Amino acid sequence: MPPPSRSLLWLGLVLGAVCASRGPAAPGNATDPLNVLLIIVDDLRPSLGCYGNKLIRSPNIDQLASRSLLFQNAFAQQAVCAPSRVSFLTGRRPDTTRLYDFNSYWRVHAGNFSTIPQYFKENGYVTMSVGKVFHPGISSNHSDDSPYSWSVPPYHPSSEKYENTKEFQKLYPLENVSLAPDPQVPTGLPLVAYNPWMDLRQREDIQALNLSVPYGPIPADFQRKIRQSYFACVSYLDTQVGRLLSALDDLQLASSTIVAFTSDHGWALGEHGEWAKYSNFDVTTRVPLMFYVPGRTAPLPVEGEKFFPYLDPFDSVSEVPEPGRQTGDLVELLSLFPTLAGLAGLHVPPRCPIPSFHMELCREGRNLLKLFEDHGEEEEPHVRSNPRELVAYSQYPRPADSPQWNSDKPSLEDIKVMGYSIRTVDYRYTVWVGFNPQEFLANFSDIHAGELYFVASDPLQDHNVYNDSQGGTLPQSFMP
Ligand SMILES: *[C@@H]1O[C@H](CO)[C@@H](O)[C@H](O)[C@H]1NC(C)=O
Ligand SMILES: *[C@@H]1O[C@H](CO)[C@@H](O)[C@H](O)[C@H]1NC(C)=O
Ligand SMILES: *[C@@H]1O[C@H](CO)[C@@H](O)[C@H](O)[C@H]1NC(C)=O
Ligand SMILES: *[C@@H]1O[C@H](CO)[C@@H](O)[C@H](O)[C@H]1NC(C)=O
Repeated sequence: MPPPSRSLLWLGLVLGAVCASRGPAAPGNATDPLNVLLIIVDDLRPSLGCYGNKLIRSPNIDQLASRSLLFQNAFAQQAVCAPSRVSFLTGRRPDTTRLYDFNSYWRVHAGNFSTIPQYFKENGYVTMSVGKVFHPGISSNHSDDSPYSWSVPPYHPSSEKYENTKEFQKLYPLENVSLAPDPQVPTGLPLVAYNPWMDLRQREDIQALNLSVPYGPIPADFQRKIRQSYFACVSYLDTQVGRLLSALDDLQLASSTIVAFTSDHGWALGEHGEWAKYSNFDVTTRVPLMFYVPGRTAPLPVEGEKFFPYLDPFDSVSEVPEPGRQTGDLVELLSLFPTLAGLAGLHVPPRCPIPSFHMELCREGRNLLKLFEDHGEEEEPHVRSNPRELVAYSQYPRPADSPQWNSDKPSLEDIKVMGYSIRTVDYRYTVWVGFNPQEFLANFSDIHAGELYFVASDPLQDHNVYNDSQGGTLPQSFMP
């Protein structure tokens, strides 16, 4: 596939895809033998037309959304690649996979947990991986978890050759690129919560700016360039998604293939004076999540109908189509495993006991299947029974109570503090507690700091009111 060019690559949006298709020898116990195409984008926050972003050109992903159930409030369990990917691909929290860095393989380090593709493979599917699905390196045993997860060896197309081509930046003239609405470090932010974006600082062009560590703001014109490059990557990625989905049409597979689209975590672009991932804020934990299920989230395409015609982001802007359906329910990326299994008609793994290190196959996430039931508008409250009770958990480790060179990515042995965060529809609440990396134990009576942001009065999380509310009635428990 020859993409015309690629914008600046260091923000590294990568398209990873898992394909699973029913082999001829599939057991005949499922009612709908659907293929599954899981698109996992690296580092993609929901800056997309279908998530209400007016600047971004993402016509192909928006088109997918128009035929999908879209989740407005989906959150990753840890805002860094390997821990997040291992978490959602096994359906276990980082405290179960015991992977908070990049340096261990869960099967030998924590438990021999099944993965989404492994489960499909064991249920008669042929499973294939293209690009970055598992994080490369130790965390997937240098093999993308082969042979357990895959029917054929994973394929890694080269992507580096597009690194310095910048055609997609033309979609975002610098004068049109806005700055983050809240570039200040939040008031009352405990030092432990701040990620000093050290990998960005290692770039030559950033070093030339002589920024002060850890807070030194990036000059506004340079911020604009970073944001422009990120948005250009999003549009480039969108063209790749468009090509992939139009191939489904060409192969007449749109009526028999579930398409799930998500990302491993979000990405800060100057919000809170921060860049990249490595925190518990919404901007780094919130991810796009949508599922196209033929005949369920959209009517079946009729013979020969183009369901996903390729759309060029350079074509003149038309209205972003409405998402097919959407829900504001709080959901965790962990739910991908049981939900995909259920949508494909496979048995949904049982809920995990706590702890569950001994159990190879169980789920810590909710099965979201109920949200796909097609109730009329008036029945909506029945489907969303208790939205206020739903909670999404995330966590982030730190080596110290204040920003250090390794605060973004501490190695397991250096972790001293763990920030456990819960997000409800009403607030985000985080406590930073002592953590023992030998025993994998968090000490909830050793509270180092806390954060509390209310969604209604402070949607961007710029005013930490934790200290104002000490002694008030706050959530008691952090264990799911
Ligand atoms: C881990 O699970 C895989 C896949 O089921 C199995 O082949 C392997 O023997 C298991 N390893 C251990 C040590 O139990
Ligand atoms: C990890 O990879 C090595 C080298 O290929 C292999 O010997 C080892 O068995 C793998 N570990 C597991 C748990 O499969
Ligand atoms: C940039 O903004 C101007 C003024 O709002 C608008 O007319 C123009 O279409 C924008 N350019 C792009 C490429 O979006
Ligand atoms: C970099 O900044 C420091 C203090 O912020 C200043 O003392 C130093 O002269 C600066 N270096 C250059 C090369 O501008």
